[in-house]
Amino acid sequence: MSRLVVISNRVAVPSKDASANQGGLAVALLSALRERGGIWFGWSGETTEHFTGEIHRAEGDGVTTATIDLEEQDIDEYYNGFANRTLWPLFHYRIDLTEFERDFEGGYKRVNARFADTVRPLIGDDDLVWVHDYHLIPLGARLRERGVTNRLGFFLHTPWPPSRLLVSLPSHKRLVEALFAYDVIGFHTEDWLDSFHRYVVDMMGGTFDEDGCVVVGSRRVRAIVAPIGIDTAEFEAAAVSPEARFTMERMQMSSTGRSLMVGVDRLDYSKGLRERFLGYERFLHNHPDRRGLVYLLQVAPPSREKVNTYQEIRADLDALSGRINGEYADMDWVPIRYVNQGYPRPQLAGIYRAARVALVTPLRDGMNLVAKEYVAAQDPQDPGVLILSSFAGAAAQMTDAVLVNPYSAEELADAIDQALSMPRDERRRRWQALIAGVRREDVFWWCDLFLGELAAVKVPVTG
Ligand code: F6P
Repeated sequence: MSRLVVISNRVAVPSKDASANQGGLAVALLSALRERGGIWFGWSGETTEHFTGEIHRAEGDGVTTATIDLEEQDIDEYYNGFANRTLWPLFHYRIDLTEFERDFEGGYKRVNARFADTVRPLIGDDDLVWVHDYHLIPLGARLRERGVTNRLGFFLHTPWPPSRLLVSLPSHKRLVEALFAYDVIGFHTEDWLDSFHRYVVDMMGGTFDEDGCVVVGSRRVRAIVAPIGIDTAEFEAAAVSPEARFTMERMQMSSTGRSLMVGVDRLDYSKGLRERFLGYERFLHNHPDRRGLVYLLQVAPPSREKVNTYQEIRADLDALSGRINGEYADMDWVPIRYVNQGYPRPQLAGIYRAARVALVTPLRDGMNLVAKEYVAAQDPQDPGVLILSSFAGAAAQMTDAVLVNPYSAEELADAIDQALSMPRDERRRRWQALIAGVRREDVFWWCDLFLGELAAVKVPVTG
């Protein structure tokens, strides 16, 4: 089996595996690499005054990580700039929040070239190279320029936006052309894949060959759907660990007789937290009899704090949670416990297991692994109910959740009512269907599916 080289902006440090501050993607990649072995290359999360390309190597759990420091200006223009002020909002359909700055693009190009220069010597002849996410779209092309002829895969963990949105990016053509340096490109859902194909056909005159690959001029690429999963067995075990049990008891003691609803999200405008709070507020308004009998624990560790839109959403949520608590709280009950910190994964599993309902209601999301973790953590005899946004990639697989339009406060309020009133038989029926999918299509299945396609590429593209 060829060795795997994974490249992503963020690299999970194996010893910090327990931290909930590491995104679901980083945790999933760590599980996959642990099973298969290989190298994981990316940004160290640190800055340096002058870029040197020095590689920090670390070993742990059968995974070698190799990371580099970037300059302050790189972080401003590449990570906070093009990645998170331009591509992230645009790919999540938020053109109103998208900033177009040439400097950002300069930084994006520079950092992708820096990644290519430093990772190049680590790539052996037979390695499979797998690049992840919107931060690194041009990396494949930069590696080809440096003589890499290996099979190259790319996975996008966000949505792929409809063409009419994507064309608002001045450099949209260059960005999409760069994807043709890869052999295989993966998306989480048919929707994102369709949008990609439609762009290539409509804007680049692409056609399909007999193998289903999309062809533009002399370049061809296979674009596939491969929905990411979690390490289900590991998470199911975490949910019955002593630490999870202790957390569950702590939650139950602090709220005897009340139903817990939980939300766990990076503090990001795409996660629909504002709309979720408004939906919950509507529920409390519509159901005076339920007040005092339910509470929402919203865990929201801050994220991308240097980006103004993230500062704004944080201030909005501070005000909104304060307003709702001020309006509805009583001397012995607070409707929202709003917490700006992450929890270690066993504790998180305990919180999920204690929760009668999970609210996973992003406005737009590539996948969303919290939905899968919640299902994996449930007690099979008395499982809770997953309320899931139809606009999360996870909704394509998890059709037995209570699916909602997260923009509608009324729909959210009704879904909360439905979930809290749901009889045990129905909860169990829905959960059994959900857990079967979460077990079957776990992170290892995802990895094998994508890497199987990549390994099957006969003649790697060169030049
Ligand atoms: O899932 C999308 C993503 O950008 C991942 O690439 C990343 O690991 C995660 O969100 C967390 O974001 P950040 O790395 O910016 O903290």
